[in-house]
Amino acid sequence: SANIVRLEARGNIFIPPSFGELASGLEGEGRMAEPEEIVSFIEKHLISNAPLHGKQVLITAGPTYEAIDPVRFIGNRSSGKMGFALANAAVEAGAEVILVAGPVQLATPSAVSRIDIETAEQMYDAVMGIKDADIVIGCAAVSDYRPLIVQDKKIKKSDNERSTLALTENRDIIAAVAQGKDRPFVVGFAAETDNVAEYAKGKMQAKHLDMIAANRVGKDLGFGPDINALQVFWPQGEKTLATALKSHLARDLMTLIIERYDAKNSTKNS
Ligand code: PMT
Repeated sequence: SANIVRLEARGNIFIPPSFGELASGLEGEGRMAEPEEIVSFIEKHLISNAPLHGKQVLITAGPTYEAIDPVRFIGNRSSGKMGFALANAAVEAGAEVILVAGPVQLATPSAVSRIDIETAEQMYDAVMGIKDADIVIGCAAVSDYRPLIVQDKKIKKSDNERSTLALTENRDIIAAVAQGKDRPFVVGFAAETDNVAEYAKGKMQAKHLDMIAANRVGKDLGFGPDINALQVFWPQGEKTLATALKSHLARDLMTLIIERYDAKNSTKNS
């Protein structure tokens, strides 16, 4: 038993033997635990030690579609891949994950609760309806504007050479989440074609975010492909995550989020 104490002190975990008939023919404690018990012990141990165990993570992903008339909309090229990869990474980190997704062609990652929406206003309502999130990550490419009037009949081609569409601003979802005293840890994304670092840091400040992940976007860059690269900023630092599969980047970004989230909470509680 001194050996057991020594091994436990080194961080080893013991699955206790069970009680019953032993190889010697006697009855007592010493039987190997049943394989199912071993698996369930390992699962419980891993789950309760996962860094986001007991935490709720809310992620927005994909584009929004803003209707112009019954058949046309304003949208963008976001595939949802980055946001869905983040949902996966958050599940792996032990979190309860809610994914608010725009119109995308992707399967729901396992163990994720998914809410499908189409417009920025619907995304706003879905996100604001969830009150208990510990971490909110805005990966969706939300339309900044929507048509002021949605025509209920298909707009006819006119004789005019030019036509204009009046737009009105959508409310900013992550900025709204980051308001208030009991706000969650809020991570934004910044999709920029130029001046990436400067614009991203500006957005982090303006929206009162805890962290922002900036990506350069353009033709075949950021929106759509399986790979991406991120420059991550938080008020006291920054880190570059080099070009990699979105699934890998999502894991690395989640590790960084957990680090900063823990650091923020430890200063809050000390
Ligand atoms: O979906 P993929 O094809 O995988 O591509 C991933 C991505 C390029 C879309 C993703 O990595 C990304 O950059 N997402 C954010 C895109 C974007 O709209 O960025 P933005 O700079 O316009 O917005 C800044 C931040 O404010 C974002 O976190 C956005 O979600 C949020 N926002 C913007 C407007 C609004 N009304 N509400 C918001 O919450």
